[in-house]
Amino acid sequence: MNMSQNIYVTMPTLAPLEDVNEYLKQVWESGLMTHNGPILRKFEHDVAEWHGMQHHTVVVNGTIALQLAIRALGLKGEIITSPFSFIATTSAIMYEGCTPVYADIDLETLDINPAKIEAAITDKTVAIIPVHVFGNTCDIEAIEEIAKKHNLKVIYDACHSVGVQYKGKSVFAYGDVSCTSYHATKMLNSGEGGGCYTNDADLDAKMKRIRFFGFSEDKTNIVEEGSNLKMTEVHASVGLANLKYLQAALDDRKEKYMLYKQLLSDNPSLRFQRINGNSCNYSYFPVIFDLEETLLKVDAALQAEHVFARRYFYPSLNTFRDIVPYIEMPVSEDIASRILCLPLYYTLPKEDVERITNIILKILR
Ligand SMILES: Cc1ncc(COP(=O)(O)O)c(C=O)c1O
Repeated sequence: MNMSQNIYVTMPTLAPLEDVNEYLKQVWESGLMTHNGPILRKFEHDVAEWHGMQHHTVVVNGTIALQLAIRALGLKGEIITSPFSFIATTSAIMYEGCTPVYADIDLETLDINPAKIEAAITDKTVAIIPVHVFGNTCDIEAIEEIAKKHNLKVIYDACHSVGVQYKGKSVFAYGDVSCTSYHATKMLNSGEGGGCYTNDADLDAKMKRIRFFGFSEDKTNIVEEGSNLKMTEVHASVGLANLKYLQAALDDRKEKYMLYKQLLSDNPSLRFQRINGNSCNYSYFPVIFDLEETLLKVDAALQAEHVFARRYFYPSLNTFRDIVPYIEMPVSEDIASRILCLPLYYTLPKEDVERITNIILKILR
């Protein structure tokens, strides 16, 4: 361990370069850099197969995956979503001409609170976009029941949820569409990337047409208001190479998550996200402090030791007054003010997990 080396909140899980080059060689030989090429199709197929899913439309990033799902479902109106998320959840809704309406989160799970969804429904509500925050699966049953009762579509923001199972199936099997991210910081990465999962073959075909300018399958006509959302063969090569190491990355993440938890437990100044059974990929290690003041002290002490944790998500999305009218979300605002994600990634040595927890415990003493 090099004490002066910076430790960041995350680092990409990267396959050996030889593995990536195997695919890149094929790209170079074919001269096909994009356009739904063979590497993209293999990436799309293999990741879906890994998750036991049949339909998967890969796009350029997770934000665009959310936009594609909203567009393909033809949504116009209010969409109920979580204020405790990355800005992309809200910006995708707004970019597609819909209005985000926040429902506050559950204090323990940090996911959207189903009771608050029900209270936010109006005659303009068309859909719900819950977020599986930090890969922790939402209360799917309650959400599906509300959606059914009020005839609403459900798009899960599953950008943190690669590899997560729920009730014997991939978490991507739930909702009308589940959108994920293959961004560099995610469990599986293609540099930038995203995907839409659905069980509906027609909806999947529609998403693939929208992804490719709106062309009909035989490319003789334009049948959708489409755009160019395609992932390149180069990005798909990176994703495909990394897929081989996904299980190892998931196992490693859970092991280090549990180590952090064990080392930090029994401290009255902090607590952890309550996990929905085992339905989580433990991709982040968020710590909730008693007060923002404690968080700031801990963060400063970590930075002094070259450890760069991250206030994630901060601030609560409903407080971005330049883009949304402010409506108080007490739980989300409170959690956002005192939550800190600690470094957690494949190449992080366990000794650094121990060192980081020692710095924190010293401040809390
Ligand atoms: C909850 C959530 N939704 C959506 C996104 C957007 O994904 P991408 O960065 O691939 O556009 C992110 C990215 O970090 C995210 O954390």
